Order: sequence, then structure tokens, then C-alpha cells
Amino acid sequence: MKVIHVVGARPNFMKVGPVIDALKEHKSVTQVLLHTGQHYDANMSQIFFEQLALPAPDINLEIGSGSHAVQTAQTMIAFEQQVLQHRPDWVLVYGDVNSTVAATLVCAKLGIPIAHVEAGLRSFDRSMPEEVNRLVTDQLANLLLTPSPDGDTNLLREGVQPERIHLVGNVMIDTLVRLRPQAEALWPSLRERFGLAGYGLVHLNRPTNVDEPTMLRAILSTLNEIAADLPLLFPIHPRTRKRIQDHGLAPIAQGIQFCEPLGYLEFLALQAHAAMVLTDSGGVQEETTFLQVPCLTLRENTERPITVDVGTNILVGQDMDLLRSEAGRILQGQRKQGTVPPLWDGQAGRRIAEIIVQTERVSSR
Ligand code: UD1
Repeated sequence: MKVIHVVGARPNFMKVGPVIDALKEHKSVTQVLLHTGQHYDANMSQIFFEQLALPAPDINLEIGSGSHAVQTAQTMIAFEQQVLQHRPDWVLVYGDVNSTVAATLVCAKLGIPIAHVEAGLRSFDRSMPEEVNRLVTDQLANLLLTPSPDGDTNLLREGVQPERIHLVGNVMIDTLVRLRPQAEALWPSLRERFGLAGYGLVHLNRPTNVDEPTMLRAILSTLNEIAADLPLLFPIHPRTRKRIQDHGLAPIAQGIQFCEPLGYLEFLALQAHAAMVLTDSGGVQEETTFLQVPCLTLRENTERPITVDVGTNILVGQDMDLLRSEAGRILQGQRKQGTVPPLWDGQAGRRIAEIIVQTERVSSR
């Protein structure tokens, strides 16, 4: 059995490793790792391959940046050639980025079975490009591998046949569990490098927060206020950096310590030791829930409600007064206590591999 794993952007890389490792245990499986090239800067891509000890991609489509239509269409054109050449039995797609939906559309038209890792998540907000990618991918995928029970509920509501849905848990947490000791080993040098005692960690790059200058200004000036009480470190995505430059917003953010995007291990260590994390990322909501670190999410909704229901996550939306007051509460020691969701146990990759191999056996009988 031949499988192609499709990855393209930063949040995909920590999800693919555990599945590759688990499939290695099944000798009948040949694996091909395909990178679309959606993310291409060394600190957005290569460093993750090194730190996560991923095999070098067998294929890199080198698609790069572009509008959604351009990026998706170019990925489809280049990916179709690879599928026709390799003729995989299964294609595994991860998360909700443009590379995910592009590969899914190609396979659906060619009749190649698709397994979607991290299926079923819904923000119910179609203004988010990721929500559109999730809806399309889940309608077309043959196997839907969900991280939490809300994913199953959403898929069933959308009419997906129950036999296609499998609750496997959170594969990103497999990587976190495996690499936490290595991340921890970096903590002393990170503390020294950034001069950290108590601090908050910031991670923002959603278009709704960073593309609109009025919103970005409001966020930066609120962060600047919070930074007067708690130093804030902000490893900055190229998209956000560009917006701050374009709109001349650097002067209102002088109290915030910015740095280049960090590797997986560095970011994990910084999350684990932070007094709070301020984010709009999906993955960071999950990692802070697992680490039981307070997380304030600058979004009106989340496709990961379990991080709010049982985890340490609080949605503050784009309400800057709420952001200020929730940050103040954490600083006064009123932390939201959370628990780790079921099946976020470091074994999701193994469960995914079992299901794929089982399904292949049944369908080839
Ligand atoms: C993508 C994902 C988003 C994810 C984010 C994580 C989609 C629709 N969005 O958003 O879900 O949270 O990745 O990082 O797929 N750029 C660089 N270097 C790079 C990559 C991008 O400078 O290596 C810059 C380019 O100016 C590019 C911009 O960042 O135009 C946006 O990149 P893109 O891949 O379109 O989306 P992200 O914002 O990274």
C-alpha cells in the first residue's frame, strides 16, 4: 500500500510526524512525503523538519505565496501530476490550510481515497478561509479522523456516514509529548536570550486581526498596555510583520519585545513557562490546554470548543476591554483551571495508522 502525506504550512508539520512514525511499523506501507511549499522561509518550514526529525520531503511543489485562488489552483495543478505519477492507494491530508483543500479536490476527482487528519472542527464562521477548507475537505474525504467528540457531532450533523468517522484524539499532542523534554532542555538558554522572568507569549497572524489596520492598531496598543505589567514576547509571523511595517504601527508597540518566528522546540518551551499566552492560532489553543497554561484567544469563535469547555482557553474576541480585564485577572492569580481532553495522550498517530491499514485491508478484499 502506498500513501502520500500532504503538508504545506507550519501547522501541518507537527501533525504528520506521529503518523509517519506509526505507519513505519506496518511493513506493507510505502510512504511518500509531499511538501506543497506553501510555507518556504527557513524559519517557517525547514527548522520544523529538523527539530521534529521529519524525513526530508520526497517531493516539494514549491508553490509559495499568492491569493487563495492562485495558491490553491497552482497546488492542484502540480499535485495532480504527482498523483498520476505515484498512483497512491491513500492520500493523507492534515488540518485546514490551502494545501489541504487543494490536495483533497485533486484526489476526489481522480478517485483516490483521502484520509483527513483533524477532521470535523468547525468555527461556523465562513469568513475564515480555514473554515471553507475544512467544510470542503470533510465533504470529500473518505476517512475522517477527529481529535475530539465535537468533531464527530459536527460531521454527523452534516450528513457524513458514521462509518467514515473515527475519533482518534489529537495527533499534535503526540509530538508535544515526545518533544517536551527536548524543549525543556532549551529553557535556560531561552530565558537568558530574551531576558525573561514572568512574561506573556503572543502569537497572532489571522487576517481578521492583522490585515485591518484599525484592529491591528487597537490590539497592539492594548498589548503595549499589558506589557507595562507583564513583559510580552511576540515571535512574529511574516504576514504580521509586514502589516505593522505597511501601516507604520511600530511606534505604538514599543513596550512589546518582538523576535523572528521561532522553532517548534523554542515556542513549546516558551508556552510551557508563560504566565499567559495571547493568540489567535488554533494549535496554540490546544497546546496551552494540554500544558494547562492560561490562554486568551483573540477571536469571536473557535473551531476547538473543547479548549474552552474543559481547557484553559478563554475567548476574548476583538473586545480590547475584555482582553485587558482577563489579562488582569490572570495577573492577580485568578487562573482558569482546566483538564486535558480524553485521547490527547500521545497515541493518536498509532490509532490513525491502525485505522488506515484496517480500512485498506477491508476495501481490497
Ligand atoms: C497559513 C494558513 C493558516 C495558518 C498559518 C500558520 C491558509 C488559508 N492559512 O496562513 O491557517 O494558521 O498558515 O502560519 O492556508 N510568508 C512568508 N514566508 C513563508 C510563508 C508566508 O513570508 O514561508 C508570507 C507571505 O507574504 C504570504 C503571507 O505570509 O503572502 C501569508 O502566507 P499564506 O501561506 O498565504 O498564509 P498564512 O497567513 O501563513
